[in-house]
Amino acid sequence: MIPVISVSRLGKRYGRTTAVRDVSLEVFEGEIFGLIGPNGAGKTTTMECVEGNRVPDAGTISVLGLDPQRDANALRQRIGVQHQEAQLQKRIKVWEAVDLWASLYPRVVDTDALLDRLGLAAKRDSWFMTLSGGQKQRLFIALALIHEPEVVFLDELTTGLDPQARRAIWALVTGIRDRGTTVFLTTHLMEEAERLCDRVAIIEHGCIIELGTPAELVRKHCPERTAVFTSDDADVIERMQGLGAVERNGVTYTLRGAGDDFVTGVINVIAREGIRVRGFRTEIPTLEDVFLKLTGHGIRD
Ligand SMILES: Nc1ncnc2c1ncn2[C@@H]1O[C@H](COP(=O)(O)OP(=O)(O)O)[C@@H](O)[C@H]1O
Ligand SMILES: [Mg+2]
Repeated sequence: MIPVISVSRLGKRYGRTTAVRDVSLEVFEGEIFGLIGPNGAGKTTTMECVEGNRVPDAGTISVLGLDPQRDANALRQRIGVQHQEAQLQKRIKVWEAVDLWASLYPRVVDTDALLDRLGLAAKRDSWFMTLSGGQKQRLFIALALIHEPEVVFLDELTTGLDPQARRAIWALVTGIRDRGTTVFLTTHLMEEAERLCDRVAIIEHGCIIELGTPAELVRKHCPERTAVFTSDDADVIERMQGLGAVERNGVTYTLRGAGDDFVTGVINVIAREGIRVRGFRTEIPTLEDVFLKLTGHGIRD
């Protein structure tokens, strides 16, 4: 796997505030990589240093083999950036913004096709201020993609959007990756990270505290699994022996275990014993649980 972004021992202070203490990470070609953590953790600062929009105090950064400070102009042609809480003039029209951005680059994509792909074709002649939150964010994605960058940076892209608009954006971001562009994003939404990211780095107080695929992190830190089923059969607890303690609440049975094979084990015993099951569900920990375990607090505390 080829790293397109390498960050080593990055540090950045604002006066007496240490925003980024010690960040090292690699982003590979063609993946969606998420830098995830609570507000104030140092996500935006890290991202801006990687883009070349902030000067680090310590550490080294390489993006597409370039130094974001020394090679800023060359890099700008090859990356696309969407800023957290970006804004445009109220009365700029969608097509005007697209034309303006297009004029900044020597080579641009077919902008009509791009607007179409992002579901903005019908909004070409609309003022920025009349767009919904989701449409505004889609426009910023369009502007970030206009010069067909190799890497695109998306900072808290879906913050403040309703669930439906969020889902539409997730589909777009997956599409960007599937067309071969590397995506580096930040989010404080664990569900978003879990659904979208191939790999994540968890950042807290300016330090990376874990890094891996969402599934790896869940397996490593939260291996516990729960199976819950309902059955009207008699002697269920006796027949489920060998799977550990079974909790019974009326006709509902709860089994707790660990590891990927646990649920299969439960299903096998149910089948072997011919237990008639009316309902069956599993409870599998999420990235949110991993975060809680690692930090001792919830992401929104
Ligand atoms: N321009 C700035 N001047 C001073 N402090 C800042 C500035 N930008 C961010 N900070 C502080 O640096 C820390 C990290 O901020 P930031 O990188 O924006 O985190 P995140 O994106 O994870 O919310 C926070 O304590 C924030 O208040
Ligand atoms: Mg931020």
